[in-house]
Amino acid sequence: MTFSFRALLWLFSAACVYAAPGVFHPGEAWPDDRGRHIQAHGGGIIRVGDTYYWFGEDRGQDNPRELRHVGCYSSTNLAQWTYRNQVLKLANPEGFGRGWVLERPKVFYNAKTKKYVMYMHIDGALPGDGHGYKFARVGVAVCDTIDGNYQYLKSFRPLDHESRDIGQFVDDDGTAYLIFEDRPFGFRIARLSDDYLTVEKEICFIPEHMEGGAIVHYDGLYYLLGSKLTGWSANPNKYATAKSLSGPWSEFQDVAPPETNTYGSQSTMLLKITGTKTTSVIFMGDIWKPHTQWDSRYLWMPLEIGGGKMTLPKPREWTLDVATGEAKISP
Ligand code: GAL
Repeated sequence: MTFSFRALLWLFSAACVYAAPGVFHPGEAWPDDRGRHIQAHGGGIIRVGDTYYWFGEDRGQDNPRELRHVGCYSSTNLAQWTYRNQVLKLANPEGFGRGWVLERPKVFYNAKTKKYVMYMHIDGALPGDGHGYKFARVGVAVCDTIDGNYQYLKSFRPLDHESRDIGQFVDDDGTAYLIFEDRPFGFRIARLSDDYLTVEKEICFIPEHMEGGAIVHYDGLYYLLGSKLTGWSANPNKYATAKSLSGPWSEFQDVAPPETNTYGSQSTMLLKITGTKTTSVIFMGDIWKPHTQWDSRYLWMPLEIGGGKMTLPKPREWTLDVATGEAKISP
């Protein structure tokens, strides 16, 4: 008697906590819990417990123009997002010149220091030079809580290299890496220091000029994805594979039919969802609208991945069950 009552209670509570699969509409406006289009462009995601946190450029129309903003949202199913905070509202911290930018913020959790560490591409014109994107640095900000107000610490050139677009990768063993574009030379993958406050060691240099760098480790292979250097205009994003992060990397191949220009998007992250039944890898991309940046859209799709091949399917509605890991694309 007691047992069946307990069993019933468990079934009832399990039914209550069961999260229905999230539904995704790539390319459409993506409202948060307030009904406002999500402001997390060029973003990244980390998971804490059962909650995912999405950080990105907040390019909201109402933001004060002299500041740069990072938005943070949370979700348990990756489809419905709750606005948490404008975690960084940054005034030009180091006298960057005209048109200074804060782009592609990524947050890592450091278990040793128990701090959340944000990396960002921070840039602007050099004094006396009208052209932007010349500082080519990463900025670092920290916080004790994931969605609190981050404190800007410093900027630097990782390992003394130029750094523009950045990507984040945390390997299965918890090691944290920064992927960065070093304009004169190519793509670099580098390990962060123990406290994550600096970039400590280069793991690999890839002599390709690519931006929007993203990595996933799937079924024994690393997949590295990036775009060409065409600014806000979409181009055919490409990927390579390797057994080790230090390479050697395969030839780069198209992730989507090249004439689609990655269906009008640019990579920002590859998100691995390991569930009870399967593992899915999600392509997270931005569809930039340079003249109405606040309305830039997101293209997220589950990738066809395995055996050294990775393909971005044609965008259409799909669902994801984060518990089982199953992604289903509408016919
Ligand atoms: C893109 C880059 C964006 C932004 C843009 C500016 O290539 O990925 O993050 O920097 O150029 O033109």
